[in-house]
Amino acid sequence: MIKYAVVGTGYFGADLARSLNKIEDAKITAVFDPYNAESVAEELGADVCGSLDELVQREDVDCVIVASPNYLHLEPVVKAAENGKHVFCEKPISLSYEDCKAMVDACKENNVMFMAGHIMNFFNGVQHAKKLIEDGVIGDVLYCKAARTGWEPIQKEVSWKKFRDKSGGHLYHHIHELDCIQFIMGGMPKKVTMVGGNVAHEHENWGDEDDMLILNLEFDNKRYATMEYGSAFRWGEHYVLIEGTKGAIKLDLFHCGGTLHVDGQEKSTFLIHDSVEEDNDRTDIYTGRGMDGAIAYGKPGTRAPLWLETCIDKEMIYLHDILNGGEVTEEFEKLTNGVAALEAIATADACTKSLAEDRKVELSEIINK
Ligand SMILES: NC(=O)c1ccc[n+]([C@@H]2O[C@H](COP(=O)([O-])OP(=O)(O)OC[C@H]3O[C@@H](n4cnc5c(N)ncnc54)[C@H](O)[C@@H]3O)[C@@H](O)[C@H]2O)c1
Repeated sequence: MIKYAVVGTGYFGADLARSLNKIEDAKITAVFDPYNAESVAEELGADVCGSLDELVQREDVDCVIVASPNYLHLEPVVKAAENGKHVFCEKPISLSYEDCKAMVDACKENNVMFMAGHIMNFFNGVQHAKKLIEDGVIGDVLYCKAARTGWEPIQKEVSWKKFRDKSGGHLYHHIHELDCIQFIMGGMPKKVTMVGGNVAHEHENWGDEDDMLILNLEFDNKRYATMEYGSAFRWGEHYVLIEGTKGAIKLDLFHCGGTLHVDGQEKSTFLIHDSVEEDNDRTDIYTGRGMDGAIAYGKPGTRAPLWLETCIDKEMIYLHDILNGGEVTEEFEKLTNGVAALEAIATADACTKSLAEDRKVELSEIINK
């Protein structure tokens, strides 16, 4: 039996815990959440801890799942590692490269695993795209383009997710697409530029995040990527497009489905998630129901949609297998050794610096600081 504890049992932490509890030889033994612990603990048959220290010091905890708000990940990760517990930490791992490095280093020093919750790597369509690229089907990758945009109306309640110092804003909070592009490109860009700001949401009930961010990423060997994030876009889009020398792949997460186009051949399609029902469910959410404007933000008490539940299960089974002695597949090495986490936050920090200082920023300025 592998025993898990969860820090932060809101929307996502509770669903990660439910998923783990479904595994035969996994058990959630303890949770810590200053505001939402009781009902989730009761449902899971777990103990409620009165403090983080109490949770990380328990003997019946092998791995700590960190799913508190983004700005609160550092302390539980470091404390878990110092107490010899493995760590799974939700994205974005941190809001600065320094914090992320401190977390990864603490896990290394204490010889425990650090797995980043970059769940997009478990999408069927993302895995399929990586395989197509590996098999040379689209030739050499030249360019990636991603968007995660839409229009968000002013909300009645302003979530922590709308504040830069708590969520990091769109770029950090939705770091999945950046991480996906870096997996495809084999690492970080050399230089970045980001422009944008809050262009359409000056309102006391908004928070202070930027609603339009436009990124330019320059990789080695004349390879590039551009990205758009934000909630000031009346024409909403959510996709990753990969352009190669022989063909292209589009992962459309809005009108959910994958498309492969190879020069001289008919276009073919594939699923983004695990069934037609799940892809259709995602399309329905984007096109008609379930979005808070541009974004499907969860909150304590909400449940993940069907497609996400399946992905959470895949991610948690993967984590559990490794803790049970299973081998880390080459594809996921970066997810479980801190590299994907560090590379994603480094690029996000470089983009943030570029916007603040109105100039092109080299990644070396962040990682060699
Ligand atoms: N991988 C994904 O697709 C995905 C999806 C949603 C959320 N997330 C991540 O999961 C984390 C939680 O997000 P959420 O949507 O569940 O938010 P949420 O607001 O629903 O839940 C956060 C929970 O943390 C609790 N909390 C507050 N301060 C705490 C503290 N000091 N210690 C422990 N718990 C504390 C809150 O009471 C709340 O229950 C975030 O890092 C978020 O980015 C990931």
